[in-house]
Order: sequence, then structure tokens, then C-alpha cells
Amino acid sequence: MASLRSTRWFGLTDKDGFIHRSWMKNQGFPPHLFDGRPVIGICNTFSELVPCNAHFRQIAERVKRGVYEAGGFPLEFPVMSLGETNLRPTAMLFRNLVSMDVEESIRGNPIDGVVLLCGCDKTTPSLVMGAASCDLPAIVVSGGPMLNGNFRGQAIGSGTAVWQMSEDVRAGKMQLADFMDAEVCMSRSAGHCMTMGTASTMASMVEALGMGLPQNAAIPAVDSRRYVLAHQAGRRIVEMVHENLKISRILTREAFENAIRVNAAIGGSTNAVIHLLAIAGRVGVKLHLDDFDRLGHQLPLLVDLMPSGQFLMEDFYYAGGIPAVVCELGDLIHDVLTVNGKTMRANTADAPCWNRKVIHAFSEPIKEHAGIAVLHGNLAPNGAVIKPSAATARLLKHRGRAVVFESIEDLKARTDLPDLDIDENSVMVLKGAGPRGYPGMPEVGNMPLPRKLLERGITDIVRISDARMSGTAYGTVVLHVSPESAIGGPLALVRNGDVIELDVEARRLDLCVSDDELAARRAAWIAPPPAASGGYQRLYVDHVMQADQGADLDFLMGCRGAGVPRESH
Ligand code: FES
Repeated sequence: MASLRSTRWFGLTDKDGFIHRSWMKNQGFPPHLFDGRPVIGICNTFSELVPCNAHFRQIAERVKRGVYEAGGFPLEFPVMSLGETNLRPTAMLFRNLVSMDVEESIRGNPIDGVVLLCGCDKTTPSLVMGAASCDLPAIVVSGGPMLNGNFRGQAIGSGTAVWQMSEDVRAGKMQLADFMDAEVCMSRSAGHCMTMGTASTMASMVEALGMGLPQNAAIPAVDSRRYVLAHQAGRRIVEMVHENLKISRILTREAFENAIRVNAAIGGSTNAVIHLLAIAGRVGVKLHLDDFDRLGHQLPLLVDLMPSGQFLMEDFYYAGGIPAVVCELGDLIHDVLTVNGKTMRANTADAPCWNRKVIHAFSEPIKEHAGIAVLHGNLAPNGAVIKPSAATARLLKHRGRAVVFESIEDLKARTDLPDLDIDENSVMVLKGAGPRGYPGMPEVGNMPLPRKLLERGITDIVRISDARMSGTAYGTVVLHVSPESAIGGPLALVRNGDVIELDVEARRLDLCVSDDELAARRAAWIAPPPAASGGYQRLYVDHVMQADQGADLDFLMGCRGAGVPRESH
């Protein structure tokens, strides 16, 4: 076998080799670890500020055991970690920054293969994007979901319960003290959100892409089998290095098609659209926004998890997890190679389902045609998305009067005003929440309903924006309108009282205003000042692409490989 990449550091006998080895030896590593064996990077997103990933030191230790056992040399390294619950203005603003951190950390160091420890929403796409741009062997180990939330005998789901209960408080149906009591009942163990939110969705996408071992997505964080999986991943990455099984052999067009179909069947997050587009862009796979509709929309919803359904990730694991879903999808899934060296079919062909209430048979789905729908029309020339499985069926075809909020501040200031001119047939429109405008495209698309509607018992109206929505959220919410309002997309031209027509079956989203009137409004439109004046945020707003292209930075597209021609001294 040809010598490994790491031998160009640790295999040298000159001053550079001395430098590379000597300083490493201050950690107590014996000489035999530098003998040319595979060096495995463990890319760790541990942070106490990212509660979903706070148990990752223990996961990393189990990966190390597996690496040592298989004859490798594990070296753990940190990268910036992104938590949804604390980071302002939105973790999405930093997804691309972390991908750069990951890419340069891998490329610049003596690493032959890498284990990516992913958990909270953006930590998965950012690590996969960065690793994909280097194209070394890589395997994802997800941190796993929290145990089911339980509040006074009722299962409650991360995020989903927050949206529901906060509206109940605003509607006067729940006391504030009870609301606060629910905090620790919802988040009661290590792990990430246990609804089919974005973290669970992206862990599922990792498995569907073939980038993780079977059952990577669903094993709870505190289940001993999560540690077994981490241990096995450590063993397997060493073999992958020997087999030269690089990411580009896993992340094929067929793998992305599998991921899109699995996302439809599990009722996955709309955020998967943006992240899969961005990952595909790093490996040069041509994936288009419309592929999500073409490949996914006709598929039925098979998994009954919140926010689209009633169960949680712990139930999903006990019912059979992603292998059982892939098994149900049968020939709709391409038989591609996965990181364990076996094909998708070999991994899933006989996967059992232990609970048909949680994972339905393909012949008896929860809902037909439940995959993400991609809308076009004069309000979204480059597309917008909606998740029909989380929407109100009667609102999927709707004509209503726009109630426009020019910014998130405007929304917060006016939503609950008693004289807000809004009713159940209105369409809430939010501007300035796209990639460039906010900046960072936050999860504010599921705008809270005005109190005056909640008090009347109204639980959903059509909402439209250039923002994203938490994967744990629900409602008739049109997201990712592209181009965004901050760069003069038609969303910027909507005014109070305009009629908007949504027709999900026809895939249309239209502003019923004449072309002449729109041209006049466009001529009078004044672009907002840049959302950032310096630092990383300036780099971001200058280079971020639109949602329909994955919102990556334009100069980060593509695979740059792992070569580094120059020494450091
Ligand atoms: Fe981290 Fe939901 S907040 S996964």
C-alpha cells in the first residue's frame, strides 16, 4: 500500500520530521504511533455553550478506543461549535465559517481520515461540507437525540412543545409558572432535539447518504448503543483509510436522491433542502431545488414523529429507525456504497419494523404526497418551499390579503397590537430575513400568530418569508423565498392589502398585482444598507448565495482536495 498522507509529516527524518514528532511527544505518545499507521482526526464540536453536543468528550473517547483497536492513531481536534439555542443572530450565519474551519483544519494537519462528531442542527452540514471540500475518508458519528420529553404524563417534543405552549400562554390557556416548569421536563438528558427537527433530520440525512453507520440517526444519546456505534465508527475509519474510501465515492448524485426520498418519508425538516444543496455543491454533484419536489413530493409520509405527527426519536429508534424506513422505500432507494463498505440495500434489506404506529408500511402511509413542495411564481421566481405534512390542509390552496412586516423588529412590535388589521384569511409576510438581509437567514419563518387570532382559537394562517423555519415547527409556512427581499426580490415589493395566491398543488406562489404596478414599485425601491460593516459578517453578506443554491459562500463551492505543497518551516 502507498504511504499515507500523514507520513509526509511524521515519516520525515529531517528537521521538519523532528518538529512534527517532537512537539506531539509532549502529550506522551510513544514512538510506535508515528510508524506510518493511519492518523485519524476526530473533529469535535463539544461545547458547553452547545448543550446538544455537551456529551461529545465521552463520544470521542469511544471513537478513540475503536481507532486504537484497529491499529490507527486518533487525534482529537476542536472546531467552532454551533448551537441553535444560544447563538445570535442565528447559527446559520456561521455554518459556512465552520465549514472553513473544518476544511482547513483537516487539510493543514497530518490526517488520513476523519470522524466528524455532529449533533446540533448546523454542526452536521458544516462538518460534512468542510470535509467534502478536502475529500479524505470520513465518517459521521451523530451525538444522538435526547430521551423523550415528558411533562405531567404527556410526551413533549423539543421545540414543538415550545411553539405550542408559548401560544397557549399568549392565548391565556396556560399559566406562566406551568410553562416554566416544562423547561426541564422537555430537556431531561444529554442529546439534541428529539423531534424530527433539523438535528434529527440531518442525522437521518447522514445515514441516508451513506455517510454514517446504520442506526446513526436515532439511537438516543444516553443509550449504551450510541457508544457502541462510536466505537465501531472508530474501527471502521481505519479500514476506510486502508481502502482509500473517500467522501466523493459516497456522496454521489444517487446518494443525494436517496436522502431526498428518505427526507420525504420521515417528514424531515425544510432545512435539509438548504444543507443538502450546499453539501452537493462541495462535491460537484448537480442538485437543483426542483429535485426535492420531483423526487420527494409524491412520496408518502411513513414516520409519525413530531412536528408532523405524535411520536419522538426514542420511539423511532425502538421501532427500527432509518433502516426500517429505507426498507419500506424498496426500489425507490438506489443501492449505493456506504461508509461501512456495504451497499445501502445490504444494510437495510431485512431491516425489521417493531412498531407500525411509528413507522408505517409503504402501503399504509400516514399521508400521501407529503414531501417538501417547491413553489414558483412571480413572488418567488427562483423558488420557495413548503412542508405540506406540517401544514393545514385547507390552507394549501388559499387567496388572501397581505399583512406585511418590513423586518423582524416590525413583526415583534406589531404582532400583538389590538388594532392590527388581520383575520384568519390574511397572509402574513415578513421581509428582511433572508441570507443577506438578516444576515444569516434565521428560523423566524413560523411567525407567531397575532394574539387577537389566538384568542379566537385560530391556530394557523398562511405565512410567507425569505427566512427558514425550525425543523421542530409547523404551520402553513412558505419559506426560503428566492431571491430574498434584501436584494430586491419581488418579496420586497409586497404591500399591505395586496392579494397573494398560494396553490401548493399547482406549485404556485403569486402576487396578484399587475406587471406595470410591480415595475413602478421596483423603480422606486431603495436597497437597504448592508447588514454588516466588517468582520466575518461582511465577508458573509458579500459572498453568500441565495437559498435556492444552498446559501453557501460562492468561493467555497467545490472540492479543493487535501494537498498542501509547502512545509511550515
Ligand atoms: Fe440543538 Fe435542537 S437546539 S438540536
